[in-house]
Amino acid sequence: MTSRVIPVEPFVLVVFGATGDLAKRKLIPALFQRDLAGQLPEEASIVGAARAHLHEDEFAALARGAIEEHVPATERDEAAIRRFLARLRYAAVDATGEEGWTDLAAILTPMQGRISVFYLATAPALFGPICERLGRLGLAGGQARVVVEKPVGRDLASAKEVNEAVGKVFPEERIYRIDHYLGKETVQNLMALRFANGLFEPLWNAAHIDHVQITVAESLGVEGRAGYYDTAGALRDMVQNHILQLLCLVAMEPPAQLDADAVRDEKLKVLRALKPLAPSGWVRGQYRAGASQGGPVPGYLEELGQPESQTETFVALRAEVENWRWARVPFYLRTGKRLAERVSEIVIAFRPIPHSVFEPSAGPIMANRLVIRLQPDEGVQLQLMIKDPGPGGMRLRQVPLDMSFSTAFGVRNPDAYERLVLDVVRGNQTLFMRRDEVEAAWRWIDPILEAWAASAEPPKPYTAGTWGPSAAIALIERDGRTWADGGS
Ligand code: BG6
Repeated sequence: MTSRVIPVEPFVLVVFGATGDLAKRKLIPALFQRDLAGQLPEEASIVGAARAHLHEDEFAALARGAIEEHVPATERDEAAIRRFLARLRYAAVDATGEEGWTDLAAILTPMQGRISVFYLATAPALFGPICERLGRLGLAGGQARVVVEKPVGRDLASAKEVNEAVGKVFPEERIYRIDHYLGKETVQNLMALRFANGLFEPLWNAAHIDHVQITVAESLGVEGRAGYYDTAGALRDMVQNHILQLLCLVAMEPPAQLDADAVRDEKLKVLRALKPLAPSGWVRGQYRAGASQGGPVPGYLEELGQPESQTETFVALRAEVENWRWARVPFYLRTGKRLAERVSEIVIAFRPIPHSVFEPSAGPIMANRLVIRLQPDEGVQLQLMIKDPGPGGMRLRQVPLDMSFSTAFGVRNPDAYERLVLDVVRGNQTLFMRRDEVEAAWRWIDPILEAWAASAEPPKPYTAGTWGPSAAIALIERDGRTWADGGS
């Protein structure tokens, strides 16, 4: 089965931070994939901008390296790589100084009339200075769009500052705050599942749903990003954005239509309805040395080289959305590095049946669960009780009605960035965070951060390769429930 490809309008995309990790791992490979799929028009150019004084050939070599490392050999060929590299330009630019900006403007001048996109894959501290310079050079007008990467700020106050600085130059309808989780195929499928099927909506509420679990578990550690990570921690890095966005998509009311503001209005209402958390509602952890992916791995503090860091690499929270639909339904949220497996999933746990008509010999009756798997092996699973086949009386067993998207459709799942970058060119903000959403998310997160900063209690240790500190298991077991996988 092939997917439908609709070419976008001519554009020029300027990537600030073009020599960085995100550009190499995600942006360049994503743009290459869309080129390969035939979605980039002839007049589509990509301009790398970074501090390094690179010749354009050197930038092309860097881009080739990124493609060869991150796009499987079976999905690329030399002609396609050359065609893609011919689209690239490079300007050495000092984001906080004056050097290089006129060179960048000179590259862009002949491309006037195209849609221009400025992608800020840099530290958030540079968002303001870059936008200011784009404004001064007259590059921010017309159809120009700016894309800002998360984290937008490190608390509410700094997020407001970043939003102000970017908003001075670009109007909100041309600001794209990216959260790559929203571009994941299964996350979009969550909307399809909820709003293109009549089956779930009548059950999608506190009367029928016992609780929700959202797990984003990673088996990797902080890799080469310890410097950044130590200033962020799991709450800022994953919960404030990715996990709360997933929670919003599960909990929001059906929007009147799928346009950007209708969807974001509904998500905002969820964020505003989040009940402030008490200390009993959170667990923070930090990994110690252990084993992962078949070998020994060092602890976070050893990787960081700073024995006193209190940055959390794991968080579990018990959230509640205080409205009619969700009153008293716990949303258990959990994310961490160096956990037992790489698995991201949303579990909708329905209430148990009110009364069993079966003999005790039929065995226990497990409540239904809808599992939306984001990764790996994206898909949807509905756990049902059936009669164990064959003679021998009525014995019940739980079976999954299981759909793996790759098996069902046999197509490559595009990376989230492929979808999102082209959505910017298309001018579709539906899968991007609006300013008020980001700020509402911080408003809920800030008191947790403040409580942690004021507390002398360090994060709870957990061994790398496990499901986090035992307190995270206690967090859910206290309510008589268990985590859906090996975490319990
Ligand atoms: C990023 C975080 O936003 O998401 C990383 O900064 C994390 O720390 C990554 O590893 C996870 O993304 P994915 O798509 O691999 O689940």
